[in-house]
Amino acid sequence: MRSAAGNDKGQTMQTKTIRVLFDEKAIAARNEEIAKAVAASEPRDLLVVAVLKGSFMFAADLIRALHRAGLEPQVEFVHMSSYREATVSSGHVEILKDVESDVRGRDVLLVDDILESGRTLAFAKDLLMARGARTVKSAVLLEKPGKRAVRIDADYVGFECPDLFVVGYGMDVAHRYRQLPFVGVVEAEREDRKEQ
Ligand code: IMP
Ligand code: MG
Repeated sequence: MRSAAGNDKGQTMQTKTIRVLFDEKAIAARNEEIAKAVAASEPRDLLVVAVLKGSFMFAADLIRALHRAGLEPQVEFVHMSSYREATVSSGHVEILKDVESDVRGRDVLLVDDILESGRTLAFAKDLLMARGARTVKSAVLLEKPGKRAVRIDADYVGFECPDLFVVGYGMDVAHRYRQLPFVGVVEAEREDRKEQ
């Protein structure tokens, strides 16, 4: 895929190539499998908590797959930030938007884009358990192995991700590429001078 962006005066055109790692079809098929596995665990009073922003597309597709699998989850959002504009984890988790529903006695499914250091997910899981959730499981679209800083495993993993910074399907680098319907790697950047 190629995407182009120029400045206001149109003097410079940047062309970036995104190499597709996981395409729409593969993601859709995996979402159905994960939803069936969640349904097979027979959750009680299921509350899906999507971790913003990166998981919004995965969560939207997974929630519809959960519906097809016969579940009636309620949906909430939490926004935590440990990344900011950097592409390496700062090791600090901050709550920017909290869950509004009462989680007491409920089976919670945390949905996130990538499990890397595990800090974000471990923090969210501890928080929801401390608030009285019956169980807190997690579904992540991607898992980067060998990167864990805290001991946590996701209960459902879409795909193992190579140790590359990925974008698309909700994930960004400096706020870009969330709209892509697939997961890919920003591979090349070319600057073409435009004739005046
Ligand atoms: P951690 O597991 O606490 O280190 O945080 C994982 C979070 O970092 C994910 O939810 C993403 O928001 C972000 N992240 C990690 N790796 C990538 C990547 O390759 N692309 C985009 N975001 C990433
Ligand atoms: Mg995230």
